[in-house]
Amino acid sequence: MLLYYSLATFLSVASLSNAQTWPTNLIGTWSTKSNKTLTGPGFYDPLNDKFIEPDRTGISYSFTSDGHYEEAYYRAIANPQNPACPGGIMQWQHGGWVMNANGSLSLTPIAVDGRQLLSKPCDYEKGIYTRYNQSELFKQYEVLTDPYHGIPRLNLYEFDGTPMQPMYLVYSPPEMLPTTTLNPTTASATATGKSKRGLSQEAPINWKLNFEQKQAVDMAHMINADRLWWIGLAFTGIGGLLYFGPRRLGLRL
Ligand SMILES: *[C@@H]1O[C@H](CO)[C@@H](O)[C@H](O)[C@H]1NC(C)=O
Ligand SMILES: *[C@@H]1O[C@H](CO)[C@@H](O)[C@H](O)[C@H]1NC(C)=O
Ligand SMILES: *[C@@H]1O[C@H](CO)[C@@H](O)[C@H](O)[C@H]1NC(C)=O
Repeated sequence: MLLYYSLATFLSVASLSNAQTWPTNLIGTWSTKSNKTLTGPGFYDPLNDKFIEPDRTGISYSFTSDGHYEEAYYRAIANPQNPACPGGIMQWQHGGWVMNANGSLSLTPIAVDGRQLLSKPCDYEKGIYTRYNQSELFKQYEVLTDPYHGIPRLNLYEFDGTPMQPMYLVYSPPEMLPTTTLNPTTASATATGKSKRGLSQEAPINWKLNFEQKQAVDMAHMINADRLWWIGLAFTGIGGLLYFGPRRLGLRL
């Protein structure tokens, strides 16, 4: 009896701690206030394997009810040496998401599909285009009706509890690229006869090395320097750039 009881307790605790759910109030495409950076085909073009620069910086996440997510980031990067000339970074990932038993959200990208474009127009003529593979843990989230805008609002909290910029519901159901693997590895692309250019040749995964060696990567699409200059001016005006994420990126810029 005692054994039965402890086994039952153990099992229920075990199943509770493994509980994974996909709450429906997250379903949709969310974007920060500028509403210009959005997931889907307007941000990343998988056929030509390139980014499409939004009109404004911002962040967007999409979630589906069956556990797929997509994210789009476009941010300015402060340039302490030359505040009027910040860099810019675009990042795109998709993969699987789940809500854990403790209310946190785990996002696991499809490693070969993520992309990052880093552009520092005053330091380098060309951007650096690489793969990007970053799992994410959000400690908690809230969906509420924004009292000012009257639309659903998503508050995400980073792994350490730091709140992110609020995002607002743009589309439900979400607007996303196909949720399957978009960029098969060079080997399988060759095997299936596709002529997609090999990203790893043009933009080595070990891009930090390139960065340090000042070898500009062959890159056709560079973030619009004029626009970033204006962003830099605006940030200078309000006392510095508040929002950028080297911690999340693991970059030292
Ligand atoms: C955000 O932009 C999309 C696409 O342009 C538009 O359909 C939507 O109404 C906008 N949402 C808000 C809250 O401005
Ligand atoms: C919540 O659960 C996730 C997944 O099991 C785990 O990685 C994370 O550390 C937990 N967070 C806390 C605060 O316990
Ligand atoms: C992607 O990131 C995960 C977690 O950091 C890591 O385990 C995995 O090896 C990475 N995959 C590739 C292809 O870099």
